[in-house]
Amino acid sequence: MMKTEFFDIIESTNTYLKNHPDLCDRRAVVAKKQTAGRGRRGRSWISPEGGNVYLSVAFKVDFETEKAPLTGFGAAVAAVEAIEEYCGIACGIKWPNDIVADGRKLCGILCELTEKDGQYYAICGIGINVETAPQGEGITAIALKELYAEASAAEFTERLLNKLENINITKVICKYKKYCLTIAKEVKIISPDGEYEAKATDVAENGNLIIEKNGEKISINSGEVSVRGIYGYC
Ligand code: BTN
Repeated sequence: MMKTEFFDIIESTNTYLKNHPDLCDRRAVVAKKQTAGRGRRGRSWISPEGGNVYLSVAFKVDFETEKAPLTGFGAAVAAVEAIEEYCGIACGIKWPNDIVADGRKLCGILCELTEKDGQYYAICGIGINVETAPQGEGITAIALKELYAEASAAEFTERLLNKLENINITKVICKYKKYCLTIAKEVKIISPDGEYEAKATDVAENGNLIIEKNGEKISINSGEVSVRGIYGYC
């Protein structure tokens, strides 16, 4: 069992772990509510109390730091497998690491690198809509409860923590590709320099998305761009 702390309310489980005085490999923190939940690309993650799950796990980076984002890919695979085992629902991954069921987002992952006393850690934060999915214009979200009426945040948390404890980033991409819904899709790439359309063809060993545009192969990094499906959310 991982060293796990539970909170009713916290600013952000990722922020908490980043500043933890005793940060160590596979330390976890779980909260019922976050007051300053953070999403990818500077967005916020609305985190009300009411049966959704907000948790983070620290992974010691005892490999090249450039590979640290692979822990986020490992966390995505862990989440898909935990959901499948818990309720028999098959879901997929929208690159890089949104968990999608029935064409809607069920779970978001924020993976951040932090350093403490010369040691790097990847902090993987996961937010799962168990009871309620956020509503609003432009939001395509789903809650686990819509797919599995008995879904319980506490039970699912236990299952997910168990999967996360056993993440192994070597060979993770091979597993990841089985679940990745972005491969072979027409996508819109939204980068700081503008938007363009391309076909996603593969995911490289370092987690980059390989796209083809006018016959040219381009490798794109998850930190730099946002990807949307042209014919749907993913
Ligand atoms: C995204 O899809 O943009 C990623 C969302 C990640 C949200 C989780 S909730 C637990 C952890 N703490 C945070 O502040 N963010 C992550």
